[in-house]
Amino acid sequence: MFSHSALRTARSFSVSAAVSNRCIFYTQNGDPTKVLRSMTFPKLNPPSPNTLNLKFLLASINPADLNTIEGVYPAKPGPTSNLASNGLGSCEEPVFVGGNEGLAQVTQVGKGVEGIKEGDWVVMDNSQLGTWSTSRNVSFNDVIKLPASGLTEVHGATMTVNPTTAYNMLHDFVDLKEGDWMIQNGANSAVGQLVIQLARERGINNINFVRSRDDMAPLVEHLESLGATKILTYDDLNDKSLRGKVKEWTGGKDIRLALNCVGGEPTTSMTKLLGQDAHLVSYGAMSKKPLSLPTSLHIFKNLTSHGFWQTNWTKSHSRGEKENLISKLAEMMKEGKASIKAPEHTIVTIGATESDQEATEKIRGVFADISLGKFGKKVLLKLEETSL
Ligand SMILES: NC(=O)c1ccc[n+]([C@@H]2O[C@H](COP(=O)([O-])OP(=O)(O)OC[C@H]3O[C@@H](n4cnc5c(N)ncnc54)[C@H](OP(=O)(O)O)[C@@H]3O)[C@@H](O)[C@H]2O)c1
Repeated sequence: MFSHSALRTARSFSVSAAVSNRCIFYTQNGDPTKVLRSMTFPKLNPPSPNTLNLKFLLASINPADLNTIEGVYPAKPGPTSNLASNGLGSCEEPVFVGGNEGLAQVTQVGKGVEGIKEGDWVVMDNSQLGTWSTSRNVSFNDVIKLPASGLTEVHGATMTVNPTTAYNMLHDFVDLKEGDWMIQNGANSAVGQLVIQLARERGINNINFVRSRDDMAPLVEHLESLGATKILTYDDLNDKSLRGKVKEWTGGKDIRLALNCVGGEPTTSMTKLLGQDAHLVSYGAMSKKPLSLPTSLHIFKNLTSHGFWQTNWTKSHSRGEKENLISKLAEMMKEGKASIKAPEHTIVTIGATESDQEATEKIRGVFADISLGKFGKKVLLKLEETSL
């Protein structure tokens, strides 16, 4: 549950009469398959000074969104009020609109906003803005404008969480040079695939661990097509000859960067492949198992273990630095160059004629399938304005 003080600081939507918007929201933390709901709400009023009205084109559902809804993630959305004139979404009963990442188009610009105009594509520069909504009024400081052309909606909707994380983890901890080696687990995750592509871009060799599956061939082929140097499974970490093989591949060069989004025993074993003065960067814990590291790695190999959270990076960097990063990534994603591919994805559309009850059932079903691992790819949400 959210605190009373949080409720007092409710963000507001300003509204007029006709019903045409929709959002996916919750009023209390819990299992997404039980607490998520759909709500239609009236059109936004014109934006107040220094704010923008946005229409969301596509929004992503990331692993952290589940934890946010469950109430176990450190970043929490502010409550939203004034969606409807009475009942849910009103000042008396504010709601929490889901979604942290998404691509939006500017529909109206308030007085005092500079450098952004109607029709521009923008991504979120603040966390938990409620991207699972057809429209939203935000401060112009909460968004970053994307380059005018060459990007797809999928690139835009998946730009601010995973690509930024992959880029920063490859840059901020070890000064890797062309021909150096790095290692990672969860290599088939969206972040892992971006790490592979960004490493390829810089000529960095990469050793990638994934969970084994009945047919490894398609996954190996896919990761190799992105630029993976070596692909192994966590089971291979039990192979005593692995260290020798790795030494052969690297020509004896120390591996100085390991990225971890899994945790548990396989991560401990992976870390043992690192060389002198290496850095282990943990950014996720998909196995939900704790991470333990042998003391000897710290004493004899001077291992440093870090955590990385993109939300902290965003808070601690200037607007200019963030715009610069988004523009670099966008350049690498553009048609023609495309050194970063859009993630494999499924788009779930909630259509204009679906009732709130139907939409509620649909979104809960999506989360049930995600928790069963049924998609195996990034799930993106497209909400259409309602015509009910
Ligand atoms: N710290 C940050 O700033 C930051 C930013 C972005 C993402 N993240 C985190 O990074 C992780 C990956 O995010 P994503 O969007 O790239 O996810 P994703 O594309 O949905 O991929 C999830 C990955 O987790 C693996 N996985 C799932 N359950 C597992 C288990 N029990 N044991 C081992 N592996 C398991 C999956 O492997 P299979 O294919 O074998 O199921 C897949 O490789 C998440 O933990 C996310 O929260 C952190």
